[in-house]
Formats: sequence, C-alpha cells, structure tokens
Amino acid sequence: MSKEILVLPGDGIGPEIIEQAVRVLEHLREKAGLDVTISQALVGGAAYDETGHPLPDTTLAQARQADAILLGAVGGPEYESVERELRPERALLGLRSELQLFSNLRPALMYPALTDSSSLKAEVVSGLDIMIVRELTGGIYFGTPRGIRTLDNGQREGFNTLVYNEAEIERIARSAFDIAMKRDKRLCSVDKANVLEVSELWREVVNRVGKQYPQVELSHMYVDNAAMQLVREPKQFDVIVTQNMFGDILSDEAAMLTGSIGMLPSASLDAQGKGMYEPIHGSAPDIAGQGVANPLATILSVAMLLRYSLDEAGFANRIEQAVETVLDGGLRTPDISDNGETIGTNAMGDAVIERLLLTS
Ligand code: IPM
Ligand code: MG
Repeated sequence: MSKEILVLPGDGIGPEIIEQAVRVLEHLREKAGLDVTISQALVGGAAYDETGHPLPDTTLAQARQADAILLGAVGGPEYESVERELRPERALLGLRSELQLFSNLRPALMYPALTDSSSLKAEVVSGLDIMIVRELTGGIYFGTPRGIRTLDNGQREGFNTLVYNEAEIERIARSAFDIAMKRDKRLCSVDKANVLEVSELWREVVNRVGKQYPQVELSHMYVDNAAMQLVREPKQFDVIVTQNMFGDILSDEAAMLTGSIGMLPSASLDAQGKGMYEPIHGSAPDIAGQGVANPLATILSVAMLLRYSLDEAGFANRIEQAVETVLDGGLRTPDISDNGETIGTNAMGDAVIERLLLTS
C-alpha cells in the first residue's frame, strides 16, 4: 500500500529547500518505484497569514493521518510581534506534542569533502559521527506553570517549569540505548545533576534502563562540560541523550562542528516510529527567496524519513550516497564553500538527482 507523506514547507527558505526534497522523492517514485503519495499543507507563518493560526486544525488532522511528515522551517522577523500563542514556532511545538514525537534524532556527521569547512582543525573533526538524541515533548519547553505575572510590588516576573517524570525519562533513554546498540554502543547522558533535582532523577532512571543494555557503555556528563568537550574532543562521543533544552543547544553546537548547519537533517519519532523530519537549521529569512539556500539538510531528512518511517533503507542509502558524491565532486552552496565558487538551491537539487540516476 502506498505510504503517505505530508509536506509542510513553512516559511523563509522552507519552500525552496522543500521543493528540492520533493523533487528527489518524485524522482524515486517515477524512476525507481518508491510507492508514496505526497500531499502538502500550511504551517507556521504561512498558515498564520492564510488562516490566522500557525497550526490549523486541517494541517494537524492531515499530520495525524500521514505515515510521515517532512517539514521545511518556520518563523521570521515579521512574526516577532505576533502574540506568543500564535507565533510560527508554536506550530512546531504543537506538532511535536500533539503527535507525541518525543525522540528527536540529530546526527552530526562530517562529510570527508567538507572537513575544511569546519571552524575547528581538520584532525579534530575528520570522521566525526555523533548522534544526539534529544527529548522533544517534555522538560522546560512544555512544563507548567509557565507565564509572566505581576508581583504585588508591581514588578513582572517570568517563570517556566522544568519537569520530567520517570516514564518520560525511561522512554527517551530506551530510544537512545536502542540507537546506541545499532552504532558504536557508547551512550553519554548529559544532565546537570550537580544542581537540578530533575537531573538527579534523570540520571537514576537512565542508569536503571542501562542495566537492560549491558553491551552499551554508559557514561554521564554535566551539560557545561559536554558543551566544552564537543569543541575540545568531539570524537569521544557516539550517542548523546539529553533533555529538551540541553539538546536544543548542544545540537546546534554539534552541527556547526561539521562545517555548516545547512547540512544536518533530523527525525522526531513517536513510540511507533512515525515521524516528522526536518533540517535542523531554521527559516534563514536573510537569504530567503534568493535561491542560494542549501537544500542538502532537507534532502538528507528525506533519507531519514525513508529509513525510519517507511522502512526503505535502500532508498535512504542511495540518497546519502548521492549527496556524498555531489560533495566529493566539489559542488557547494555558499554556506559550505571555502573558495567562493558556488551553485544555487536548484542546481544542488539537480546535482543530487543526477547522481541518483547514476546509481539506480
Ligand atoms: C529546533 C528549534 C526549535 C526548538 C524552535 C524553532 C522552537 O530551535 O528545532 O531546534 O527550540 O526546538
Ligand atoms: Mg534549535
């Protein structure tokens, strides 16, 4: 039976990069028999402009029904003055929480051809291959009470709640151990257990789950140290598991080790493996509409979608190989070019599709 992919282009460079990713999917469908149907819906600022809400009910209903979701990016400066509940980012948080996409996989992979694009020395980053597993539906992002209140003395006070229960910690830990089992079997759990009770419980539960994975070497690290170790000696890490906000921060840092945030895909999975896939970079309003955005993170997100939600590892490998071949051949969008020779978004899409043909 044909699998259904819902595409949510969103804002900024979202529509441009999604266009290239959809071309890759369509190419695989037409030339290699990938059995998918592709539909589209509004999300983020684009949806707000059209309907008055960043996550319209119709979009959420389509997302619930789809086998997998491919999202571009949301947000832009024009929405900064919109009330908090209606900002584009709310759509992202709403999708994550409504669909219970609690396990967010953010690989930081160094492509050999891009070693010199990293701001770190080549020997520190060459061969880098880290998987960050970020808890995505809990923690301080969703904890209540939250808000801004006025105190008796007239001062205003902002407050959020960092909360994790055992079940939430257990399921993300399990997800991370399962991934570690398929890789180098090393898992580092990042927390702030020297200060936060939430982290104390986190550590205890991760240790408990770890007993069921005796082959995985488990370690713990405080988040400040982890941030430092990521730039000092990033290759010491295989899989990192951490709470929502630490994962947000560390995954941007890890992405940059690989040369450009424009290269990295992500998967957000529920307990059944249904998922939403998106590049980890944002909507990049400064370059939107110029045809220079790097579509590779989105194209690589398609590969993750095929692997994790559609069980099509063969097609996923083909996409990843095509991207590597394109990079080896020296083609670069501006964000990953170090000699000024660049191609645009469309040409990068063309190049990947051409290499896909060669390997079909
Ligand atoms: C990310 C983004 C989002 C987050 C924003 C846009 C809400 O930074 O996916 O990492 O903080 O989770
Ligand atoms: Mg982020």
